Amino acid sequence: MKLLEDRIVKDGTVLSGDILKVDTFLNHQVDPQLMNLIGKEFKKLFDKNNITRILTVESSGIAPAVLTGLQMNVPVVFARKHKSVTMSDNAFVSDVYSYTKKVTNHISIDKRFINSDDNVLIIDDFLANGQAVHGLVDIIHQAKANVSGIGIVIEKSFQPGRKQLEKDGFNVKSLARIASLDNNKVTFVE
Ligand code: G4P
Ligand code: NA
Ligand code: NA
Repeated sequence: MKLLEDRIVKDGTVLSGDILKVDTFLNHQVDPQLMNLIGKEFKKLFDKNNITRILTVESSGIAPAVLTGLQMNVPVVFARKHKSVTMSDNAFVSDVYSYTKKVTNHISIDKRFINSDDNVLIIDDFLANGQAVHGLVDIIHQAKANVSGIGIVIEKSFQPGRKQLEKDGFNVKSLARIASLDNNKVTFVE
């Protein structure tokens, strides 16, 4: 997605440890117009997959997921990382290990918000090691629902997330694919 790549080059900054900071439009401040175009792009890519529900993880996955849900006219569910006071104990839970932060978090989704006949589209802001997506896949499998696709806004293609998901047979589409962040410069996959 050319517009997204241009925005990453214009507004993104590379931090040490191969981290791309995009808090002016995605991870802290959010650009709704850009999110809407991202939603339209995901709709185009997954329109044939009979999607019935979108799943993401709080917090930064929510903006692109909701605008995609708006375009596809399906409900959006975000997995919670912390237990909310209103959440019942009737939830699917999975572990997500973060290589970046060296901690394991639990993500959970109330069983009311995913059914065995759902065709689920997973949306997330970043794909790095793929642990967040694996946690969502685990929950979808616990619910005996179908993983119909995985849509990623920014993929760090030099990290192992995408390769593993492809090996597992999933349909992964990323709107921007970053080959390298070496020398503080963003290089996209050809
Ligand atoms: P993984 O899910 O692909 O394995 O991600 P990893 O554990 O490596 O990363 C942990 C968190 O850091 C995730 O957000 C992930 O989206 C984010 N992340 C990874 N690489 C980058 C990067 O280059 N730039 C930015 N901005 N984020 C990155 P999270 O902890 O779930 O946070 P949030 O959704 O609440 O923002
Ligand atoms: Na994030
Ligand atoms: Na995320």
